[in-house]
Amino acid sequence: MIFARRMSRVRPSAIRELLAHGADPDLISFGGGYPDQRLFPLDDLRAVLDDLLRPERSQVLQYATSEGLPALRALIAERMRAGGTPTSADDVLVLSGGQQGLDLVAKLLVDPGDTIIVEDPTFLGALIAFAPLEPSYATVRMDEQGMDVERLAEVLRANPDAKFIYTVPDFHNPTGVTMSIERRRRLIELANEYDVLVLEDTPYRELCFEGVQAPTLASLDTEGRVVHLSSFSKILAPGLRLGWLTASPEIRERLGLLKLAADTQSGTLAMAATAAYLKGFDIDAHVQRLRDVYRAKRDLMIRTIDETFPDTVARTYPTGGLFTWLTFPEGFDSARFMAEVAVPEAKVAYVPGATFFAVDPRPNHARVNFSSVPEEQIVAGITRLGEALHRAVAEIRLVDADFATLTSQKEPVA
Ligand SMILES: Cc1ncc(COP(=O)(O)O)c(C=O)c1O
Repeated sequence: MIFARRMSRVRPSAIRELLAHGADPDLISFGGGYPDQRLFPLDDLRAVLDDLLRPERSQVLQYATSEGLPALRALIAERMRAGGTPTSADDVLVLSGGQQGLDLVAKLLVDPGDTIIVEDPTFLGALIAFAPLEPSYATVRMDEQGMDVERLAEVLRANPDAKFIYTVPDFHNPTGVTMSIERRRRLIELANEYDVLVLEDTPYRELCFEGVQAPTLASLDTEGRVVHLSSFSKILAPGLRLGWLTASPEIRERLGLLKLAADTQSGTLAMAATAAYLKGFDIDAHVQRLRDVYRAKRDLMIRTIDETFPDTVARTYPTGGLFTWLTFPEGFDSARFMAEVAVPEAKVAYVPGATFFAVDPRPNHARVNFSSVPEEQIVAGITRLGEALHRAVAEIRLVDADFATLTSQKEPVA
């Protein structure tokens, strides 16, 4: 069989391999990016579905418009406005998960060889979505304030024809860090200067544990060049497969045509149930509960890391979201360590960091999730990992500059 050329870029991911470990009942996995399923609002969603699945509401199982149910688009716009981003229902395109937005935006903009600017490291699922479009990448290193925008300026100077900048400004996946407001302003300034589109991906934005979130890039945009992407996966349930994007009419209409080509529409029942949930129940109270539980888990994980890991391993301090990011001494290969020690001996899994780098994989990192694992397993798993790391890294000095200083950072960055 001769497959299309793009298939040479489509490969199994480390995440898929990781999910295969799920079979071992003793293994504690910090690998997935899953929300805690014990927090899904099952009773409320059951009530909503009971009400919807009556003969007089049978249109909830019918085809619907491609852009999404009007009631849901209006409720999403209302929520965005409440969060400080001016939005009308017409600006919203409902998606089958935020992941679909990554696919559609790449299809809209990227011909083979075109450059996408991504953070270094970046969200693996974005690299997976972009790969079939056969892009080139230019990368911008990150630190504890998010994407380094002065490096972005250099990258734009070297790649003035870049098609778009992809960023996860709030509680970044995989590093957990948040972009400062000054950098957000500068990023928009640079995007205007170089006439480049920005894809702002914000599935974790509402999961903020302390302080006030910096404004969205969309709210700072004055030229209609930000496509804002978000999702119900982390604030409601990923199995609904519902996300959304907002964009200027010129862009949104074309993305709507691509969505029509891809899957006709998102599931009517999921859209109707989500709209009814938003109307009839208190999602803000639900999100507040998620914040409280995840904050406690973050605290427990960070404390256990600080107590049990060797000093030569650094971590970020996430002020929201689901992840912290580990930096091991240079020369340490976290994928090999996971395969040879962490999984077979310590019975602990994480996502090896190399997979999150678009161009130049750095093997001495790992992404660790704190949301999906019960508290007692956080302590047990992190302690076991710490013991194994003590044996492995005692001799190695820490030299990875960007994230190396973060272990000492006990307080949130602004
Ligand atoms: C940064 C980021 N973007 C997008 C997604 C896609 O999520 P979904 O398709 O479930 O909305 C995820 C999921 O983990 C993510 O971490």
